[in-house]
Amino acid sequence: MTLLVTGGAGFIGSNFVLDWFETRDEPIVNLDALTYAGNLANLAPLQGDARHSFVKGDICDRALVDRLLATHRPRAIVHFAAESHVDRSIHGPGAFVRTNVEGSFTLLEAARAHWAGLQGDEKSNFRFHHVSTDEVYGSLAPDAPAFTETHPYEPNSPYSASKAASDHLVRAWHHTYGLPVVTTNCSNNYGPLHFPEKLIPLMIVNALAGKPLPVYGDGRQIRDWLYVRDHCSGIRAVLSGGRPGETYNIGGWNEKANIDIVRTVCTLLDELKPDPAGPYARLITYVADRPGHDRRYAIDARKIERELGWRPAETFESGIRKTVQWYLANADWVASVQSGAYREWVSKQYAQA
Ligand code: NAD
Ligand code: TYD
Repeated sequence: MTLLVTGGAGFIGSNFVLDWFETRDEPIVNLDALTYAGNLANLAPLQGDARHSFVKGDICDRALVDRLLATHRPRAIVHFAAESHVDRSIHGPGAFVRTNVEGSFTLLEAARAHWAGLQGDEKSNFRFHHVSTDEVYGSLAPDAPAFTETHPYEPNSPYSASKAASDHLVRAWHHTYGLPVVTTNCSNNYGPLHFPEKLIPLMIVNALAGKPLPVYGDGRQIRDWLYVRDHCSGIRAVLSGGRPGETYNIGGWNEKANIDIVRTVCTLLDELKPDPAGPYARLITYVADRPGHDRRYAIDARKIERELGWRPAETFESGIRKTVQWYLANADWVASVQSGAYREWVSKQYAQA
């Protein structure tokens, strides 16, 4: 028994792989192209561990994916690989269409061919688990109910449009070809190994460097935050008990405005690593809003709880404290991911901040 994981050197994928081996010995083949967001340092604890095979490669490479499926005969594909940052999708949507749409299509086609050749239990137990986002549902009005699995798709950014396209392909490969797929749509994750281009890690690393904390627009946009290891346990629950063809929303029951998140990070840093220059909140800087910025996301996670008994283990207070502590204890990791490419991105995106 083996899993094929794609994107397992990124933020959520690497947490998933590390988390998996804390309780299981089932091997993982980890296919990742190591873009700017993929980092082998995330997987350093697995060096020399025979359960983990890392393959540097592109999900758009059909011959490679075919070879991996034929060689390892995984019982499931857990598909994380994606371009994942909304701001980057605004500057360069092409990479999002390539990886998120064409890459998912390539994997689906390879999986379909492989699955067609399986028999008996191997065939009926096979799963294609597609990891997606709540952003495909679009933006919620302030008092609207949270997203259920039947909420209409209304993606607004090139990122969410490309993820929506991949969700549609996954759905169609089930309905048309019978491929046993499951899709999970998750809210914003946070936690260790989060690349510091996203809100929470960016605020932590900027605060520690005494740099401005750039808050887009009025800072009142709402996201529903989920600790990354809770996302991993949700994926495991769906992988083992989810019904083929179904979608499960995964969320943290934690709606927070961005400015409140930033203030919480500042307060925790004031406690854990006080800055002699004064409270970190002095660095908060309102900057131009993101074009097309979605106002609110919120997940109704009752289906996964009802059917599979999953609920997040962390509260926001416990998760954000662990996260800030992790960044304080892992300055070397932060330095290692702040490459030249990272610095170029930050100076382009925050030129006016
Ligand atoms: P990430 O950007 O941190 O990591 C993506 C990984 O995919 C990287 O390791 C990268 O090298 C790899 N990759 C990119 N293009 C590839 C290609 N063509 N072939 C092979 N590998 C490639 O992303 P993440 O935050 O870990 O997100 C993982 C998945 O979860 C994505 O599908 C994303 O849409 C989804 N998701 C993320 C969040 C979130 O808050 N981060 C929330 C919900 C869903
Ligand atoms: P982000 O972490 O990029 O995730 P997503 O856009 O996928 O939700 O952003 C989370 C929220 O924080 C989003 O509303 C945009 C906002 N934000 C800022 O205000 N400043 C920043 O520098 C960044 C990166 C995000």
